[in-house]
Amino acid sequence: MVRDVEGRKRISGVVTVPGDKSISHRAVMLASIASGTSTLAGLSQAQDVRSTIDAIRTLEVPVYNKNGKVLIEGRGLHGFEKQRRSAPLRIDCGNSGTTARLLMGLLSGAGVPARLTGDQSLSRRPMDRVVRPLREIGARISADNGHLPVEIGLSRLVPFEYKVPVASAQVKSAFILAALFIQGRSVITEFSDTRDHTERMLILMNGDLKKRSFVHEKQIIVSGRRELTPLDITIPGDLSSAVFFIALALTLPGSEIVVEKVLLNHTRAHVLDVFGRMGGNIEVKVDDELPEPMGSVRVKSSRLKGTTIGGVEIPLIIDEIPTIAAAACFARGETVVRGASELRVKESDRIRSIVDMVRAFGGDISEREDGFLITGSKKLSAARVPCSCDHRIAMAASVIAANIRGRSQIEDAECVNVSYPSYFDVFEQHCSL
Ligand code: S3P
Repeated sequence: MVRDVEGRKRISGVVTVPGDKSISHRAVMLASIASGTSTLAGLSQAQDVRSTIDAIRTLEVPVYNKNGKVLIEGRGLHGFEKQRRSAPLRIDCGNSGTTARLLMGLLSGAGVPARLTGDQSLSRRPMDRVVRPLREIGARISADNGHLPVEIGLSRLVPFEYKVPVASAQVKSAFILAALFIQGRSVITEFSDTRDHTERMLILMNGDLKKRSFVHEKQIIVSGRRELTPLDITIPGDLSSAVFFIALALTLPGSEIVVEKVLLNHTRAHVLDVFGRMGGNIEVKVDDELPEPMGSVRVKSSRLKGTTIGGVEIPLIIDEIPTIAAAACFARGETVVRGASELRVKESDRIRSIVDMVRAFGGDISEREDGFLITGSKKLSAARVPCSCDHRIAMAASVIAANIRGRSQIEDAECVNVSYPSYFDVFEQHCSL
């Protein structure tokens, strides 16, 4: 579907966004192995989270709606043992890397034979980063040349020590989930901060998880086979979805918005610091600490300037880089992103997709192996824009289109359903013509 987006005058009002996608995936998976019924308010309705819900339904975990909340009857850590069967379960992970990679850890640990598949985009993404090390700790798991489909057999895992070589919360979380089923103490080490929702949620559920910080690394120590208390939480709004409205408010003159009840966990909110460094007028107020830090963000239109982004900050803004690129098109001077080659293995090759998007509007961008350089300019023009069937690129393209006089067309815009099905409704509601 091609979506027309016309230039906008400003964005205003109080914006709320759907529940955080990363937290929603984890809440559904962890609730499925809790001892009792979890109650989840504000769960994301994104297609990706539906893939996770469908997966745990395949595992015969009851999931239902009650009074606007989602209830999940956990089967406990040993619940799946009775269910072992000779034919592997067939699980379609759709477009969702988080569903696929986290399930590999969970199902290997729980000892549930399964075959995981995904759509075209997910089938191109690397799975070896989880499959190989899981095999090293005793899992019977194999991939098709490093990709889906992944076959998981019945395995018995032993306590392990694993140093996560790539800054990836998905890989880290797969190993934490596997460790939950193992008698004894497993240690997972990471060298850069990545989103820590799995760790926080397990602590809320009385899991036996400890963290130790050293100068160059962090250890997560999990003692498995400890029963998990069910969750009763309200999931904060997804800052990675709110960021499109934040970028619109920064770049459209005369704008002011307040985003309420949004996640402010420091492993996810770094994009606000990056925008701050670019001269963005942003005020943050933390209202709550549990289940995760959350609060409100007030944003006013600002004269942005370029910045250089790289190193340890990349994993903290990995999903927001397309939106930063969109804002950089309207900033004075150069914005440089480096050390971000992980972007090449996301839902699309996001470095290439960002370059194609910015160039379609006539923007000045050069591609690097591990990032890009944008020189901000006001001389962009309305255009028909490819988004590589990548939800975050489609929404970032709408930020650029809104800043340009005339009507642009975003191709394959239905892909926003992957993370934010109502995105264009909220966009229309708050952005005036
Ligand atoms: C996610 C982690 C990130 C992120 C993805 C969601 C998660 O991927 O890009 O959208 O929920 O753990 P990596 O951890 O592989 O970088």
